[in-house]
This record gives sequence, structure tokens and C-alpha cells, in this order.
Amino acid sequence: TIDFTGMMESLQNQNGFSEAKLQSLQKVLDEAQTALLIRWKAGEIDFSKLLVSMKNQLSEISEYANAVSSKFDNFVVLGIGGSALGPLAVHQALNHYYYNELPPEKRGHRPRFYVMDNIDPVRFSELLQMLDPSKTLFNVISKSGNTSETMAQFLIVRDTLRRVCGDSYAEHIVVTTDKEKGNLLPIALTEGYQRFVIPAGIGGRFSELTPVGLLAAAICGIDVHRLLEGALEMDQWIRETQGVFSNPAQLRAALALLSWQKGKNISVFMPYADGLKTMADWYAQLWAESLGKRYDRQGRVVHVGQTPVKALGVTDQHSQVQLYAEGPDDKVITFVVVEKFKETQEIPIDMKLPEDIRFLGGKTLDELLWAEQKATEYALTLAGRQHQKILLPRLDAYSVGQLLLLLEWETAYMGELLNINAFDQPGVEEGKNGTYALMGRNGYEAKKHEIEEYGKT
Ligand code: PA5
Repeated sequence: TIDFTGMMESLQNQNGFSEAKLQSLQKVLDEAQTALLIRWKAGEIDFSKLLVSMKNQLSEISEYANAVSSKFDNFVVLGIGGSALGPLAVHQALNHYYYNELPPEKRGHRPRFYVMDNIDPVRFSELLQMLDPSKTLFNVISKSGNTSETMAQFLIVRDTLRRVCGDSYAEHIVVTTDKEKGNLLPIALTEGYQRFVIPAGIGGRFSELTPVGLLAAAICGIDVHRLLEGALEMDQWIRETQGVFSNPAQLRAALALLSWQKGKNISVFMPYADGLKTMADWYAQLWAESLGKRYDRQGRVVHVGQTPVKALGVTDQHSQVQLYAEGPDDKVITFVVVEKFKETQEIPIDMKLPEDIRFLGGKTLDELLWAEQKATEYALTLAGRQHQKILLPRLDAYSVGQLLLLLEWETAYMGELLNINAFDQPGVEEGKNGTYALMGRNGYEAKKHEIEEYGKT
């Protein structure tokens, strides 16, 4: 459910939109839908188009996951950006919060799970010092098969495994990459690693529901069938429904566009569930990398995009909400609320305590959390700030699948409304090329010279 009351004008908040204002966007939303569906039929919009074939691939993924999950104590993803945040977000949302600390029998004898996205030398060295390589499976995820961070980690791990495991080192590496391109593929083929394919047209940040995320999820015991079922249902709803008040992706994109046009350059994503903290990281990449663009489709300079901010309720009520309520009116806030948690905690009653603390007794932590969310929402309304709420009935595989597809589709819609390509990332590529140049890769000599000259000025 999406509760968008806080985006609309009301007695308490005259700054909101009217229903008529939202409806006035229907024509452009219809055009966006037509354009997206034409591309969908042409086999583009891969994050949606591929869901069915991914469902058919689940038995292969699950078979491999079951075979390896009892064999290894640790499962480590080496990847960055779109090749890391999805697996991490889904794991945190759906597995025990302290999964890695649980005794093996409480983890279903499945391996501990780590994602090494950054190349901080301390963190990477300390991980390798802690894990026994002979009991670890490494999943190297890189669509391009070229990304310096992931390739550097891979080379270090491969070297370590060769030393520790000898001839059987290749059994400790599973590669997820493109079917035909990139430098990782020939190494995987020559050295005989188990391999999964990232389908050609899909961008990293849209790839969670491909082997990029499904393999990690299956190995760590997540119900990947329900995850895909939720995604497929949301996908169908969005593709087959018309009208801003019926199609959730249209609604969210329309609200984002109107707020952006009103100067809300910042989009805060604030789940009230620790399990969704990394989902905020995943959303931030999706929104930032897809929509932050210099050129529109006609090649005109436009510099569009809304800056995503990650926050966590209630923690950030005590750090950021002051700014949201009283700072510049340049933010729009999305709360994500879980309606039923899988655990609850009752707060004990102690009649001897003073009334000012006793009132908490007999309530639960979920009630306190919801009350805090509601109170924050109300305070923001009184301050004239716009906000909306995505309500998940539960934090389970089905709802998470739905949430992923909703956020992906609304990003695609927003790309249409902004008249930009939401599926490329030229600003990221420039940085990657600069890194190759500075690290001495062949063919990047001119770029190296250019950067060194810049360093002198
Ligand atoms: O969304 C994206 O395209 C990026 O975040 C990439 O996923 C990231 O740069 C890693 O690229 P690759 O998977 O090619 O190593």
C-alpha cells in the first residue's frame, strides 16, 4: 500500500498537491507507459522482461546452492555497486539480523555471508585473516568483467586459494558475469570455475533478480521462489494498470516529478525497520545512478536528478529529522513501514516506577516504533513538509520482491518523465576509465597523461 496523504494538500498542510494537479499529469504518464511498453515488447526493460526466464532458471540456481551450501562455512561476494548492494539488501531484509553469528544449525547449516564491495585494504585483509579459505566459496560478480575493484579482489583471492587449496582452488570460485564479454569470462572458462550468466541488456543496479542476487539468496536460505513471485505480481500490476491512482509506479513517479519541479532536490528513503537499512543503500544507487544525468535524449544539457538520502527510523529521528522539519524545504520523504514484524518484544510493567516512564509498560517495541513513525509524520506535516509511506504487510520474500519491482519501475517511469536514459551511467564509466589509466592499463595512456596534467594545475 502507498499512503500519499502527506504529499497532498490538507487542513494542516497547504503546501501539498491537489488531486487535480496529479491528474493533470495523466497524459504524460500514459505517454510514458506507452513508450515503456513498446520497449518492453521489443525485449528491452530487462529487469521486468527477464523475470519469467529467471523463474525458469531457479532450479539450476537452487540445485547449485544446495550442493555448495553445506560444503562451505563462508560465502563471500566480491562485487561493487549493482553487483553488491542487491544481494546485501535482500539478505539483510530476509535473514536473521545476526545470521553470521548464529550457530550453524540455526542457519540451516548454510554458510556465513559476507559482501566485500569496497577495496579498503584493512577491511579486506582482516576478512581474509578471519576466514579459512579452504572452507570458503567466493562469488565474483561483475557484469563487465573489468571493474578494477572486483578484479583486484579476485586476483588476491585466487592467489590465496591457489596457495592454500592447491589444485582444487577453482572449486572455491563461482563467477557471475556476462555470457560473451569481459576479461573475467575467459579466465573462468580456462580455469573451470562454476559460472552463472548476467543477462546482456540489464544494468547492474537493476540486476538483483538475476543470478547476481538470486544465487546469494538461495545459498543463504532465502525463498527465491517467493521473491520472484512477489516481483512478478508487482511487475504485472504495473504493466497492466492505467491511471495515476491505480498504478503505483505511475503514482510514485508523478509525485517525485511534481516535488522535484517544486524544488525538492532531495529524496529521503527512511525505512522503519533495521532489516531495510541496506535496502536504502540499494534504492540510493538506483535513484542516483539512473536519474542523475547531464543530457536528455535529444542531447541537450539538462543536469537532472534528485539526490537520494538514506535514513533509518527511528535512529535518524535523533540525528536528521530536525533538518527535515526545520531546514531548507528541499526534501521529500518516503517512509517504509512494516505492518507486522516477525518478532515482538513486550515492555515490562513496573508499577513502582514514576508515571513518566511507567506508561511504556505493557506496550510493545513495535507499537513504540509505529508511534514514533506516526508522530514524525505528523510533525513533518505541521512543518509543511511533504512525505509519503510505503506499507509492507510483512518483511518476507514476497513483499521484498514486490518492493524491488516497484522501485525499479518507478525509476524507469521517472526516466521517461525527465526524458533521459535511466539505464546508462556515463558518469561512472568516466571514473572507471580514469582508474584504468592511473593504474597503467594498456590503451589508456592518453587518459593517464590528461589526468596527470590536471594534477599539476
Ligand atoms: O549499476 C551499475 O551499472 C554499476 O553500479 C555497476 O554494477 C558497478 O559499477 C559494477 O560493475 P560490474 O558489475 O561491471 O563490475
